[in-house]
Amino acid sequence: MSRIHNFSAGPAVLPESVIQEAQQALWNFQDTGLGLVEMSHRSKVFEAVAASATERLGRLLGVGDTHHILFLQGGASSQFFMVPMNLLRGGTASYVDTGVWSAKAIKEAQRFGTVDVPFSSKSAGYDRVPMAGSWEDRVPSDAVYVHYTSNNTVAGTQFPYVPDLAVPMVVDASSDILSRTWDAAAHDIIYAGAQKNLGPSGLTLVAVKKDLVDRFDPDLPTMLRYGTHIAKDSMFNTPPTFPIYVVERVCKWIEDNGGLPAMEARNRAQAAKVYAAIDGTDFWCGKTAVDSRSIMNPTFTTGSDELDTTFWKSAAEQGLSGLKGHRSVGGLRASMYNALPDAAVDALVDFMAEFERTHG
Ligand SMILES: Cc1ncc(COP(=O)(O)O)c(C=O)c1O
Repeated sequence: MSRIHNFSAGPAVLPESVIQEAQQALWNFQDTGLGLVEMSHRSKVFEAVAASATERLGRLLGVGDTHHILFLQGGASSQFFMVPMNLLRGGTASYVDTGVWSAKAIKEAQRFGTVDVPFSSKSAGYDRVPMAGSWEDRVPSDAVYVHYTSNNTVAGTQFPYVPDLAVPMVVDASSDILSRTWDAAAHDIIYAGAQKNLGPSGLTLVAVKKDLVDRFDPDLPTMLRYGTHIAKDSMFNTPPTFPIYVVERVCKWIEDNGGLPAMEARNRAQAAKVYAAIDGTDFWCGKTAVDSRSIMNPTFTTGSDELDTTFWKSAAEQGLSGLKGHRSVGGLRASMYNALPDAAVDALVDFMAEFERTHG
């Protein structure tokens, strides 16, 4: 069977050239006679892969000099507790509540201190993020940090700006990291599960500002201290070698294909096509406030659960996979990460028009 169009929210589409290269790497990596997943993480060959991944990520994020880049495990979900466990230490942190992921992060942070919520769109079904300038002055001046989710994968909303705050900022960028040019360096901690724009699941990228390190709790269990992983370049224990390799290749693919400006231009053009299809007729209805729309995960509905189900099922039969909305909210969602080809978006828009013609 040939490959189909992949609109999955994650694990998600990766560049075809990277998948092909990875196939070969699994068999015999760089002519060593060993498959990549069969070699020691302490071999010179693998150390070079990890160093290159670190260097490329530092360059792409613009944090190479200011932040430690860590390759951890446990998913972005483990960062929900690792951040407050290391940094909050009984103080107060502000959490912007823009979706289920923020809510999960809040729940974990409450174990380690006081959580203040300067904005929540919960009562509106998380259909929006706060607009710039509307919430920042509610952040207590003694907040240890502010945490926000740059892109709410489930509802399909995204911050169109980097907040401007005097206190340290922590961002969960799991579903829009490396999708656009942004001031990553404005954040003290950036974390992201790899399985959307970066690579396979099993790796969590964490970038920690170097001058934050002294504030971390030194008395935590070894594996839960950022300091442990910083001191050992993410090699205190066996790191997820295959995901690190794929992330390195994906970063190379981004750099070879115009970097973040080119990713952003394509992502915006693709999102514009889908939103134009949603807004073009009364048949479709977007699920989020227009000024909060995500360029990664447009969400929409026909207004009927039954028709939505017919849509994603018949789309799957036509080779358009993963269009079912998140199980907690229903509806439809087209996740369109960096590696999604334009042909997939064109096929989706055509299918939406045809579906409307036959079901409208
Ligand atoms: C924004 C966001 N944060 C956190 C998570 C949880 O990530 P993980 O499954 O890596 O723990 C997800 C997963 O989809 C996500 O989209």
